[in-house]
Amino acid sequence: MKLLDGKMAAEAIKKDIMSDVDRWSREFGRKPRLAAILVGDDPASHSYVKSKENDCRQVGMESIVYKLSATISQEGLIECVKSINEDDGVDGLIVQLPLPEHLNEQEIIETIDPDKDVDGFHPLNVGRMVMGLPSLVAATPGGIVDLLDYFHIPLQGKECVVLGRSNIVGKPLANLLSRKGYRGDCTVTLCHSRTLHLEEITRRADILVAAMGQPLFVKADMVKEGAVVVDVGISRVENKNTKSGYKLVGDVDFEEVAPRCSYITPVPGGVGPMTRVSLLKNTMLAAMRRNLGPI
Ligand code: GUN
Repeated sequence: MKLLDGKMAAEAIKKDIMSDVDRWSREFGRKPRLAAILVGDDPASHSYVKSKENDCRQVGMESIVYKLSATISQEGLIECVKSINEDDGVDGLIVQLPLPEHLNEQEIIETIDPDKDVDGFHPLNVGRMVMGLPSLVAATPGGIVDLLDYFHIPLQGKECVVLGRSNIVGKPLANLLSRKGYRGDCTVTLCHSRTLHLEEITRRADILVAAMGQPLFVKADMVKEGAVVVDVGISRVENKNTKSGYKLVGDVDFEEVAPRCSYITPVPGGVGPMTRVSLLKNTMLAAMRRNLGPI
């Protein structure tokens, strides 16, 4: 069993991004810039945005965070998105989710300029991705494909089973892996909470991706010998043996599944770092494309 070390792959990809940032900055006389809109006081969202700022700094990009009150109106938030859309000094824009209950997330996402939508959540980017056209692809699925690529995992003709049908992981990943060509060409099955005979399906998988957000759900008897297992989940569970009193676990029961695998992602240190680096990659791509015209 080998570990799909996301930290190592992300560091290597960051080096490539740094040299792109450097070349681009010298050519255009400023650094690529990511803007983040953060609404309200949710501590997890604040901490995610902080990490994104640190990541930008590390590769030489600029970031700017618009901190807005939890009571902002839908119209007020739309105005803010539109003004960033029109700001020539900003290359990528994310609105940190979830938004407070009274705001309509979908309408906000659809207000973002698709060329600056570095989360890849705008329907235009999703549609273009499904059609195999150039697009900005959501960070987690993009990062997973980059991780498989980094470790030279063959994909063509492989049976790939994705557990979980979220808009930000399961659905786009199933689409990416079934696309024609290199980094695709898998035979993909997308499973969800209503899937029947789940274990029979997961046992067919050459590549099994767990992205349903249920800690330790995937057990050894659900996995084929020699499979590649990618674990997108990350949850805190109580653990009296650690100093903090908790432990981070994925959707896969690593202890029992790992011995059956050819490759498996650790949690933490697998998909997480790849997701973070994908946002930087998309920001660099958005900056490069701005000089080429709309996607
Ligand atoms: N909240 C949790 N994950 C994400 C993400 O990938 N992008 C944004 N904008 N918000 C999130």
